[in-house]
Amino acid sequence: MTTVITVCDTCRRDGWETTDSTRADGEVLLEILGEPRQRTPRPGVAVRRMSCLMGCSHACNVAIQARGKFCYTLGRFEPESEAATAIVDYAALHALSGAGLVPFRQRPQGGVGHVVTRHPPLPEDPQT
Ligand code: FES
Repeated sequence: MTTVITVCDTCRRDGWETTDSTRADGEVLLEILGEPRQRTPRPGVAVRRMSCLMGCSHACNVAIQARGKFCYTLGRFEPESEAATAIVDYAALHALSGAGLVPFRQRPQGGVGHVVTRHPPLPEDPQT
């Protein structure tokens, strides 16, 4: 099952307005992650974009999601290749996990301290 990295392409970190950048930090991070390719070089991991994941104060934000698994919002990333590598490594571990759980000890170094939210998988019948 594919784990999808949803990158907020409108994230701007604190102080962005004082830089010379003409592009949002999230747009830069998305480019580093390989968009518009739908698949990263890692098996079972894909990338897509969305404007605003509603976690703006934690920019840059990404969501790590797959059907039937725990899903995460990771934030506070710099729009740099080291962060992109950590995000893809985290997603690859998520893809390998049946439940979507990425144990703390296995988290890539660059992914430690970036979990903003965690969501349990929905039950088969969401009314239960
Ligand atoms: S602009 Fe990225 S979460 Fe709102």
